[in-house]
Amino acid sequence: MAYSKSVLIVGGSGFIGTHLAMKLRDGYKVFATYNTKSLAIPGVTFLPMNITNQNLVKRIAYTAQPDVIIYTAGSNNFEIAENEPRKAERLHTGGPAAVSNATEIFQPKFIYLSNSYIFDGNKGNYRETDTVLPFTAIGKAKLGGENYIRGRSLNYIILRLSPVIGRGNGKNISFLDHLRIKLDRRERVEFLGNQIHSYTDIYSVVNTILHLLEGGPKNKILHFGGLTKLTDYEFAQSFAKRFDYPTELVTLRQSSQQKKSSEAVVNDFSLNSTQISETMNIKSLLLEDSFDLLEKNL
Ligand SMILES: NC(=O)c1ccc[n+]([C@@H]2O[C@H](COP(=O)([O-])OP(=O)(O)OC[C@H]3O[C@@H](n4cnc5c(N)ncnc54)[C@H](OP(=O)(O)O)[C@@H]3O)[C@@H](O)[C@H]2O)c1
Repeated sequence: MAYSKSVLIVGGSGFIGTHLAMKLRDGYKVFATYNTKSLAIPGVTFLPMNITNQNLVKRIAYTAQPDVIIYTAGSNNFEIAENEPRKAERLHTGGPAAVSNATEIFQPKFIYLSNSYIFDGNKGNYRETDTVLPFTAIGKAKLGGENYIRGRSLNYIILRLSPVIGRGNGKNISFLDHLRIKLDRRERVEFLGNQIHSYTDIYSVVNTILHLLEGGPKNKILHFGGLTKLTDYEFAQSFAKRFDYPTELVTLRQSSQQKKSSEAVVNDFSLNSTQISETMNIKSLLLEDSFDLLEKNL
């Protein structure tokens, strides 16, 4: 089969990267990178790449000669980034910069996956035009990546995603896998209640990226999340209820800040997806609908 486009998924062995590779392999020549967890997916060329190794990044750029790059490397875990802010910066700011520099000659479309932590969480329902003011390590690192791509790429999309739910690939365990595994074993799980998000599902995210790959706007920031706003704790409760697990297994964890002060600060990082819905006819789902999709695919 003659493919029209070559797509390089940086972080192809991760949760989102694997779902993308599975979906894109039928219509594109797909190259996907892994760092520590090699994968084999028929129809996808996996290549080892540590983003901090400039020579390797260059070599992979010349192997793939991509028309499109989807940057999905680095964990989205907010607490991991707080513990290792330098590493988060290397992955979310230095990484996209290195890939963008190495592939400049091919002038690819660069799709950078960002998140809602680039906002301060004071108001929620954030639109693309709202002022960014990150206070978390991951938010600062993501903003660095966004700024680099906006400044250097001639053809980019920055897609800010709310937390994504779906099944992992067995090697990179997704957030939802962790929850399911614990609940299956009837183990207690603790979740924070101090952050509100508009959770979305991996199927809607992959569909959105596919649309962006095929066309859609150019040089834009776009938001994509679900329609239901809730805290991590409420999300886990809803999941347990929907999939018939005992809800008492899901308990509320106090953040370090809450332990220090009696004032409970809740940050709302929810995203408003109106722009992408209106311009590209992509639907955001209620959590219940995302759960239905999950059920079909579990
Ligand atoms: N998941 C979400 O809810 C969500 C929401 C918003 C935005 N995003 C963004 O989407 C991207 C992917 O998230 P995800 O949940 O799919 O992450 P993930 O499952 O943790 O996967 C991360 C990927 O990055 C690779 N990686 C880690 N360190 C690397 C390094 N030093 N050099 C090169 N590659 C490296 C991993 O490779 P190995 O596993 O092979 O080591 C893996 O392929 C992230 O940038 C995240 O911020 C995710």
